[in-house]
Amino acid sequence: MAVEVEIERETIRQSVRELARARIAPRAADIDRSGEFPRDVVDLFREHDTFAVAFPPQYGGLSGSALTLSLVIEEVAKVCATSSLLLAVQALGGYPILIGGSEEQKATYLPELASGRKIAAYALSEPDAGSDAGSMRTRARRDGDDYILDGSKMWITNGGVADLIVVFASTQPEARTRGISAFLVDGQSAGLERREIHGKLGIRGSNTAELIFSSCRVPAERRLGEEGDGFKIAMGVLDRSRPQIGSQALGIGAGALEYALGYAKQRHQFGQAIAEFQGLQFMLADMGAQLEAARCLVHEACRAVDAAEPRMTELAAMAKLVASDTAMKVTTDAVQVLGGYGYVNEFPVERMMRDAKITQIYEGTNQIQRLVIAKRLLA
Ligand code: CAA
Repeated sequence: MAVEVEIERETIRQSVRELARARIAPRAADIDRSGEFPRDVVDLFREHDTFAVAFPPQYGGLSGSALTLSLVIEEVAKVCATSSLLLAVQALGGYPILIGGSEEQKATYLPELASGRKIAAYALSEPDAGSDAGSMRTRARRDGDDYILDGSKMWITNGGVADLIVVFASTQPEARTRGISAFLVDGQSAGLERREIHGKLGIRGSNTAELIFSSCRVPAERRLGEEGDGFKIAMGVLDRSRPQIGSQALGIGAGALEYALGYAKQRHQFGQAIAEFQGLQFMLADMGAQLEAARCLVHEACRAVDAAEPRMTELAAMAKLVASDTAMKVTTDAVQVLGGYGYVNEFPVERMMRDAKITQIYEGTNQIQRLVIAKRLLA
C-alpha cells in the first residue's frame, strides 16, 4: 500500500513537472510583465486535473495528501510562482470546507473546486486586522434565514476572480475570537464590491483584491460549522496551508538555483567557467544544502498534516518560516551569481527574487510564525 502511494505520488509529480516545463515556463516572464491574471494557466490546470491534487477522491479529488500537493506546488513554483499560487489558494479556499463543512456542504462545493470549475478565495485579513486576525471588524448579523455582512477584507488572493469566497466575520464582537464565524460567499453576490490591488513587487499575475461588503446577504445554510467556530477553522486552515507556502518558497528557490548552476557553467571569466572558482562553488553548495534542509522540514510538516498530528501547528509555522527565508536568501544569491545579468528582467532570477519576498509575508508574517512556534515550545 505504502509503495503504491509513493508510486502514485511520483507519477503525479512527474506529470506536473512536464506540464510546468512545457506549458507554464514559457509564459512566466510574460505573466510577470503584463501583471494579468493567467486564465490560460487556470484552463491548463482544469484540463489536466491539477486542482484535484489538493482534494480527497470522495469529493472529486485525486489525492488530498499534503505531501503530494507539496511536490506539485514546488514543481510549478520552480518555473512560475504566480501559477503555483493558483494551486495553493484553491486548497486554502477548500480547507475551511473540509475542516468545518457539513457532509452536504462538502459534497456540494468541493467537487467544484477540485475540478477547477469554481475558483476559491480565503478572506481573513482586513485593512486594520492583519497579524491580529482576531480583531476583525467585519460583521455578520442574523436576519431570518440569512446573515447580512458589512465590512471589508484586504489583500485577498483571487479576490477579484473567485467564484466562491470563504469569509470570516464576527457574529458576536464582544466574544472576540470565539465570536467569529465562517461563511461561503458567492463571488457575484449583491452587496459585494471587489477592488483589485495593483503594483505588487512580485507574484504580479496573481489577482489580489479588497472586498467590500455592504449589506451583503448570505443564506444561513452557507455558514460553516456553528456560530463562533470561525477562528478555529481559520487557524486550522493555516496549519494545513502554511506548509504549502513553504513548498512554493522551495520551488522558487530551487528554480533560481537551477538557473544559477546552468549560468555558472557557461559564463567564462579569467579564462574559465565561473563554476570553476571555489568562491562560487561554496555559494552554490550553500544554496543547495539550505534548500534541501528546508525541503526536509516542509515534507515533515506535510506528513504531520497527513497524519493529523497535533504538532502540525508548530511544524507548519517552522516550515513556512524556514523555507521562505531560504528562498529569499537563495534567490538573492542567484542574482549575485549572474552579476549584472541577474539584475535585469531578460533573465528570470530577478523575478524569482521578487516573488520570494511574499512568502515571508503572506499566510502570516514570519514574525507571526515565530510567535506560533514559541507559544507551542513554551506550552
Ligand atoms: N488550531 C485550532 N485552534 C487554534 C489554533 C490552531 N492552530 N491556534 C489558535 N487556536 C485557538 C486557540 O486555542 C484559542 O481558542 P480558545 O478561545 O478556545 O482558547 C483561539 O483560537 C484564540 O487563540 P489565540 O489566543 O492564540 O489567538 P490570538 O488572537 O492571540 O492570535 C495568532 C493568534 C497566531 C497571532 C493569529 O491571529 C494568526 O495566525 N495571525 C496571523 C494571521 C494570518 O496568518 N493571516 C494570513 C491571511 S491568509 C493569506 O495570507 C492568504 C493569501 O492571500 C495567500
